[in-house]
Amino acid sequence: MADSPVTKHGANSGDEATEASAQEQKQMEQAYAQMKRKMSMAEIGRMIKHKVMVLSGKGGVGKSTVATGLALSLAQQGLKVGILDIDITGPNVPKMMGLEGRRLHVEAGRIHPAQGHLGVKVISMAFLLDNEDTPVVWRGPIKLGAIQQFIADVEWGNLDYLIIDFPPGTSDEPLTVAQSLPDIDGMVIVTTPQDVALLDSRKSITFSESLKVPVLGVVENMSGYTINGKSAPNSEVKIDGPAGKTLKTTCDDQGNFAITIDIFKEGGGESTAEEFGVPFLGKLPFDPGFVRGGDDGVHRIVSEPEGPSAIAFAKIVAALQEQITDSDEPGLEII
Ligand SMILES: Nc1ncnc2c1ncn2[C@@H]1O[C@H](COP(=O)(O)OP(=O)(O)O)[C@@H](O)[C@H]1O
Ligand SMILES: [Mg+2]
Repeated sequence: MADSPVTKHGANSGDEATEASAQEQKQMEQAYAQMKRKMSMAEIGRMIKHKVMVLSGKGGVGKSTVATGLALSLAQQGLKVGILDIDITGPNVPKMMGLEGRRLHVEAGRIHPAQGHLGVKVISMAFLLDNEDTPVVWRGPIKLGAIQQFIADVEWGNLDYLIIDFPPGTSDEPLTVAQSLPDIDGMVIVTTPQDVALLDSRKSITFSESLKVPVLGVVENMSGYTINGKSAPNSEVKIDGPAGKTLKTTCDDQGNFAITIDIFKEGGGESTAEEFGVPFLGKLPFDPGFVRGGDDGVHRIVSEPEGPSAIAFAKIVAALQEQITDSDEPGLEII
């Protein structure tokens, strides 16, 4: 009798032999499941042209705002885009994408993303929560296993870009994603011009080296607030700025003026990028519309598709696209 290694009853079907082959069968099944997951990841890697991670050292610097903004700005170009929101403890991407309260849709064992603004496909850990106000406390291995499963079991279809948003500061999640998902193009690091946020973004840049995922560039968020107003045509306007500085400008023929106030500091992101020899992708102004958008579920790019913030995002995205080399045939490598 030609026994396969997974046959339960061997030729010598004593108790010991049965037990050994049952164990072997289990190992075989595990190896098969792992192989299937790797093949699935490789397939996903092939179907998604570009994968971009969005990271920051510190929370609250606008990582999710930038991740959703990049996705929407790319979608404005007519590209097929998805967002994978890995933040289990404070997932706010669904809210920003108008998908609050959605649940995962599973069909034939595959998870289907929800479609948010501009057709952007969204998968979020928030879709697993019964109550979005209750943070999930998952221990390390369970959390990382869930992330791997999220990558392998999602039916993204063909995408031009997948933007991956992370929780702040931790290294486990980006490491798991970088090890699971093949051909990641690189990471975008979000910072504010403040010193402490800059310090953290420097850490992220060093972290990228250990991950072996290149830095595609730095985005400086909340970089200045622009006041628009009207006064007499061609007149001079003066505003008391921060740190006792007086800001001046001249109105145009119609009496319109715009003055940008640097709320924090100026140019911090740019100098960090320069110091580390990584590209600077651009600045995103402070815009209260982002906060409103987070509350009412209409992203700034959707509420004002041609406004200053949408224009800033379009410039950042153009700089990002310049950093990404177009390779339409990523290798299907199973390792
Ligand atoms: N450029 C900006 N202008 C104004 N508010 C912003 C800007 N970027 C982010 N915010 C606000 O700051 C808060 C934190 O942003 P979020 O994207 O959730 O940060 P993170 O994901 O880094 O924790 C949110 O309320 C968001 O609306
Ligand atoms: Mg966030």
